[in-house]
Amino acid sequence: MKHFLDLSDVPASELRAILDDAKAVKAARAGWPKGRVDRGAPLADHVLAMIFEKSSTRTRTSFDVGMRQLGGQTMIMNAGDMQLGRGETIEDTAKVLSRFVDIAMIRANNHDDVVAFAEAGSIPVINGLTDKSHPCQIMADLQTLEELGITLKGARIAWVGDGNNVCASFIDAAPKFGYSLAIGTPEGYEAPQDRIERARAEQGSIFTYNSPGLAAAGADVIVADTFVSMGDKDADKRLADLAPFMVDDQLMDAANVGAIFLHCLPAHRGEEVSASVIDGPQSAVFDEAENRLHAQKAILKWCLES
Ligand code: CP
Ligand code: NVA
Repeated sequence: MKHFLDLSDVPASELRAILDDAKAVKAARAGWPKGRVDRGAPLADHVLAMIFEKSSTRTRTSFDVGMRQLGGQTMIMNAGDMQLGRGETIEDTAKVLSRFVDIAMIRANNHDDVVAFAEAGSIPVINGLTDKSHPCQIMADLQTLEELGITLKGARIAWVGDGNNVCASFIDAAPKFGYSLAIGTPEGYEAPQDRIERARAEQGSIFTYNSPGLAAAGADVIVADTFVSMGDKDADKRLADLAPFMVDDQLMDAANVGAIFLHCLPAHRGEEVSASVIDGPQSAVFDEAENRLHAQKAILKWCLES
């Protein structure tokens, strides 16, 4: 059983193979209508269930279209419409869905619920974002960087802002792909120390600063994300505390010439990033969004191949 719950769980060689497959599946259907099934319909006869406890635009559409392109079928369920929302246990839900579908993607409030689903069920489970991590996003981000000519091994990626769930998956991937990660957060918004220590124990180069400029200095890539993630309650305080960490033209100038700007979206112009940066020539955010589709198709295939 192959689950895709966190990048730290997957061997580096398999993550590398997934990324290579993502590029291959993208190239193989270049220029095709989006609804055409890939050659060989690799996941024909398979059904993907998607469960959402939180909002989504990209994850929802990219998994749905991706599974269809692989020749499979999809269903989307909002947790509030399921008996899950009325107190049925995660474990019972997992056992029941395992009788109906071949694979599940879950976006959950609590990471532990996704782990519990995977342990109780008998089908592969993909983490489509939790409070703790967002592994699918980072695979799409790394695909985007390689397409833009960045060699991941030895590259310096700067994370600027809140040390949140997306940052956590960037930490997990650092030792797998060999880039160094410079994290700049305000005090009190640091990335999870246990993940940093685990990545360092696997020879990952992780640097932490309480300054945006120190993180950005010499970076090949600057990554930002919302200052108020889904589930965060203290929005006004967060916006005030994190305001000095907005990625603007001045911060981009602290990075290497031609540095790439990434953001998983949705973005808030004037909060975590200026409009001039996200809509400017160094931004790759829409290629990044598109690559959710290709990266996740490769992840679906990896999970279901025997
Ligand atoms: N980046 C991302 O996961 O977007 P959605 O919340 O729209 O799925
Ligand atoms: N950190 C953000 C990512 C959204 C895709 C959140 O969890 O809301």
